[in-house]
Amino acid sequence: MAGQNYAYVVAQLKAFRERRRTNDAGTMTSVARTLSETDIENLGHFLAGLR
Ligand code: HEM
Repeated sequence: MAGQNYAYVVAQLKAFRERRRTNDAGTMTSVARTLSETDIENLGHFLAGLR
């Protein structure tokens, strides 16, 4: 997960939230559903900054 591209992380979290990505046995979908746009952007910045 460390150092993942910002745009990629944002796109994947939105895909889980909108059930366009479902290869996670439902765990990511269930957490992503609770995230706002701002939450997703903040997580994207956080993950993109990890090294
Ligand atoms: C801070 C919490 C979390 C964030 C920000 C997060 C974020 C992500 C992201 C960005 C991906 C896509 C990764 C990729 O395409 O390479 C992903 C995939 C996934 N996540 Fe999470 N995740 C979190 C917590 C969890 C938890 C708690 C679980 C399960 C207990 C989980 C299970 C999974 C699974 C099964 C996948 C799919 C892996 C795969 O395709 O090989 N995630 N997550």
